Amino acid sequence: MGRSRIVHRCSECGASALRWAGRCPGCGGWNTLVEQAEPLRAVPSSSVPAADALLLSDIASAAAVPRPTGVGELDRVLSGGLTPGGVTLIGGEPGTGKSTLLLQALGSLAESGVRCLLVSAEESPEQVKRRAERLEVDGVWVVAETSLPGIVAAVDRLSPDVVVVDSIQTTFDPELEAGPGSIGQVRGCAQALVELAKLHRVTVVLIGHVTKEGALAGPRVLEHVVDTVLTLEGERHHALRLLRVIKHRFGSTGELGLFEMTEAGLVDVPDPSRLFLGDRRHGASGSAVVATMEGHRPLLVEVQALVTGSGLVMPRRSASGLDPSRLSLLTAVLDRRAGVSVAGREVYASAVGGVRVAEPGADLALCLAVVSSVTDVPVPDDLVACGEVGLAGEIRQVSQTPRRLAEAARLGFRRALVPLSAAGPPGLDLEVIRMATLAEALEWAGAPPADRRMAASTI
Ligand code: TYD
Ligand code: MG
Repeated sequence: MGRSRIVHRCSECGASALRWAGRCPGCGGWNTLVEQAEPLRAVPSSSVPAADALLLSDIASAAAVPRPTGVGELDRVLSGGLTPGGVTLIGGEPGTGKSTLLLQALGSLAESGVRCLLVSAEESPEQVKRRAERLEVDGVWVVAETSLPGIVAAVDRLSPDVVVVDSIQTTFDPELEAGPGSIGQVRGCAQALVELAKLHRVTVVLIGHVTKEGALAGPRVLEHVVDTVLTLEGERHHALRLLRVIKHRFGSTGELGLFEMTEAGLVDVPDPSRLFLGDRRHGASGSAVVATMEGHRPLLVEVQALVTGSGLVMPRRSASGLDPSRLSLLTAVLDRRAGVSVAGREVYASAVGGVRVAEPGADLALCLAVVSSVTDVPVPDDLVACGEVGLAGEIRQVSQTPRRLAEAARLGFRRALVPLSAAGPPGLDLEVIRMATLAEALEWAGAPPADRRMAASTI
């Protein structure tokens, strides 16, 4: 009989603690620690036969060749396609288009002779059929099944190459005591499906719902169990959808996929900057264009600001698609370092087109837009800006400036406002204007200090 010890193990993430606590030290979940007796492991002895160690050069390269799905942006994000035997989890809020995207992918795979099975655990075959007709998808096998043994039996019977389970939260294993939709069920089913994938070398895609906080519902260990984790994001009122790769055992995680939701399903957006700048009004004040990076992709996005008088004690500050705390910080820097006070005014700012610009590289463009709204002097049309603004009012370097500028030049911009130290790509038809401080940049853009102060005081 081996010795055991008492530990408190988290039912969500599996972390352990010696003492009970209300909050798990691993995942931060409340009331998830459960007392357990666990056997103490014997110290390994050298009498155990050793597994053969291999020299790297003697190991055969794993021939994990991805299979393209035929959906261009999905393949881009997956570094080529779905890997046979690999398990992918795709998360997103309800209504973002997960079922649509996967049905399109299955349709295109089926067209090229791949055997595809859709396990629909949320919708009836008729509902799936209706969507398939809309998307002009055919040739995919569909089974409406929620129980794990039923899913395994269907896979055994059909021997598909690719299986999509929609969704992992609605599948359940009757052998597990946990109730349907519970964390134990989600984890148990996911683990069983991963085993199935490895055993049959079948590609599995699990669709998962995310909670309001943006985390994949269910245990975080789900993300560790699968090979690839994707998320599909989008604003309800915009057609744009962003597909990101958070984890990828078979490729890079920096890629971003962009789609437009249309009547005929999700359509690839290979040239997003054109989409974002399509409705831009030339010569309007309060607008500036930032050259930002999303993963490995340079994107040009219009940033708008509107500064108006306010009768409120606490004037509104609103940022959509931008970080609100960054907006507050930048208005403080504008006040102290560049002589533009928006105290007592309402400030509305937004990144246009349904995209979220979270990086500080958008600071300079946002400041230009705010000051342009204050002075009513438009920012030059052919100007793009990228740079972080520091608390001292200095303009700081951002990553990959040459790639950002190359994208701006490609889209016809002629001038770029960048930090003093930024490297410029040689041979571009683009004038690179280097600025050390925000005050200098504003002056260059047509807002000398006296004008800025006067305009700010008269709104
Ligand atoms: P859906 O794929 O069901 O989202 P999820 O599985 O992530 O919950 O699709 C969501 C929305 O997309 C739905 O509101 C309808 C819309 N839609 C289109 O606009 N065009 C289409 O061709 C399809 C199939 C759906
Ligand atoms: Mg769905």
